[in-house]
Amino acid sequence: MGVFATTADPAATGHEQVVFCQDRPTGLRAIIAIYSTALGPALGGTRFHPYASEADALRDVLELSRGMAYKNAMAGLDLGGGKAVIWGDPEQLKTEPLLRAYGRFVESLGGRYYTACDVGTYVPDMDVVARETRFATGRSRESGGAGDSSILTAWGVFQGMRAAAQHRWGTPSLAGRRVGIAGLGKVGKHLTGHLIDEGASVVATDVDEQALAWAKASYPQVDLIADVEALIRSDIEIYAPCALGGGLDDHTVEVLRAAIVAGAANNQLAHPGIDKSLAERGILYAPDYVVNAGGVIQVADEVIGGRTPSASGRYGFDFDRAKARATRIFDTTLQILRGAQDEGVPPAVVADRLAERRMAEVGRLRTIHLR
Ligand SMILES: NC(=O)c1ccc[n+]([C@@H]2O[C@H](COP(=O)([O-])OP(=O)(O)OC[C@H]3O[C@@H](n4cnc5c(N)ncnc54)[C@H](O)[C@@H]3O)[C@@H](O)[C@H]2O)c1
Repeated sequence: MGVFATTADPAATGHEQVVFCQDRPTGLRAIIAIYSTALGPALGGTRFHPYASEADALRDVLELSRGMAYKNAMAGLDLGGGKAVIWGDPEQLKTEPLLRAYGRFVESLGGRYYTACDVGTYVPDMDVVARETRFATGRSRESGGAGDSSILTAWGVFQGMRAAAQHRWGTPSLAGRRVGIAGLGKVGKHLTGHLIDEGASVVATDVDEQALAWAKASYPQVDLIADVEALIRSDIEIYAPCALGGGLDDHTVEVLRAAIVAGAANNQLAHPGIDKSLAERGILYAPDYVVNAGGVIQVADEVIGGRTPSASGRYGFDFDRAKARATRIFDTTLQILRGAQDEGVPPAVVADRLAERRMAEVGRLRTIHLR
């Protein structure tokens, strides 16, 4: 399988650079994919996962890096899109030397790619990676980093949900609305808190006993339901997929009773055309990469803060600045939903078009030569 052959796949096409990294003594096998640097250095997390094959790892990193380019463009960031995968079981393979070896490969790209956390990598891991590279974000607050990105991811999803409610029901308030959350992980937990504070009623499910125990202890008013199938068939008004990708498939679209879908999971649409099926059934879909951009906005502030002082004159990560930017997900979502209604196309089509336009139009400015 060749990289160019794979990138001819329309789902993952046109990457600028794909780098294979190997360090035999630590067992590191990583692929860093840079989809676009039209808007600035590429930013995207590192997924540490035991892929079944090298081809699976490559496909995932190509798709994810492309997704990051669109997400960063729509979030209004001066950052391109990239992503990395480390192939292997993090439980068995993750060591300080492996993470530092990986950090040296990130450093070797000279700032074309900034990394961050993703599935299988956590804030303390980024602190280790950052000992070898200047281009790691998602570090701990003690190290001057942005910390746990799920905080602003959940805040942004909440804002996207409010915008969808505004579009569908004429008010952004979620008070009294019944919201179904699939996945009470890092994002799902924070989202539950925002919804309960707002006066919504929450019904949720998770496969993990600890997550369910957390819900019972923290928010006894949350209705816990057997599984995702039961959740999508229940009388929810808003569905928030916050577990894994691919949750919006033909079956879900057929049985879903919610009027709105807005959730944190990446790559929610199981295949092309599902967005059209959702629209035909009158279900309003707030595009995943638009509403879940709060996390990348949070870690991007580490990069922004390295160049620009905050209102208080301080350099470095500034939570208030990042939160203000994540709050604007409300406006972006509303703009997309209104555009989709005006044009009679699914919201995901409008989002892709706006992201592509920003990459082309703002990216073109680089052709104006500066000394
Ligand atoms: N954390 C972030 O900042 C961030 C940013 C953007 C997108 N996302 C996406 O949002 C989603 C959630 O992220 P997270 O950080 O909360 O992850 P997480 O791993 O902390 O939580 C995921 C939760 O989903 C549960 N789950 C898995 N399969 C399930 C199933 N079949 N039914 C019900 N529950 C199931 C898990 O038990 C877990 O509690 C992921 O798709 C992630 O890629 C996260």
